Amino acid sequence: MDINTHKLVVVVGSVREGRFGPVVGSWVAEQARGHGGFDVEVVDLAEHDIPLALPDAYPSVAGASYPRPASMAPLTAALDGADAFIMVTPEYNRSYPASLKAAIDWHYTQWAAKPVAFVSYGGGAGGRHAVLHLENVMGELHAVTIRDGLAFPLNRVAWEDGRPADPESAGYAKKLLDQLSWWAGALRTAREAVPYPA
Ligand SMILES: Cc1cc2nc3c(=O)[nH]c(=O)nc-3n(C[C@H](O)[C@H](O)[C@H](O)COP(=O)(O)O)c2cc1C
Repeated sequence: MDINTHKLVVVVGSVREGRFGPVVGSWVAEQARGHGGFDVEVVDLAEHDIPLALPDAYPSVAGASYPRPASMAPLTAALDGADAFIMVTPEYNRSYPASLKAAIDWHYTQWAAKPVAFVSYGGGAGGRHAVLHLENVMGELHAVTIRDGLAFPLNRVAWEDGRPADPESAGYAKKLLDQLSWWAGALRTAREAVPYPA
């Protein structure tokens, strides 16, 4: 991976039966691959074992010795290796799904001093309530949230053949990816120069 290519993890946050999340996640990953600045991995939370019951220890205190189940190792390794994240989230009851919160809470250093962008979908608000909550939560984990985001109100914005019908969407995605790439490079350089004091 050259210095201008950043490892991007696209997290598909919903795990519900019949979910729409993988459609959005695949489209986002396709935009990111086409952008050219990222080595892209899709992490679909439905493919990972993420118990709701956390250990006694705090991940912020335990660091690398935080006792995660062995089956969580691939998820942790993917998050560890990321320079940047895009969280693909629906809105459930004016917030984001419990599956995504569980994945977030099992980790700590994996998020720190890294940029996170959000692509949301849902009813009329396009998942904006979910993103407002995520911005707040990710700040607690020392992540840097990206201002621009994509929000798809599924009752108004049609998707056809795995893509949003709105032709402007790819342009908005590029702007978000440009901002994410800038932050990914700046923060990777900073992390490599001086370990982040999380
Ligand atoms: C339990 C539940 C709660 C929901 N609550 C909201 C909501 O508060 N606001 C909204 O805009 N859409 C809401 N929706 C609609 C979802 O955002 C929409 O169905 C979306 O496709 C769900 O993502 P998924 O298909 O990936 O699971 C809700 C859906 C579910 C299943």
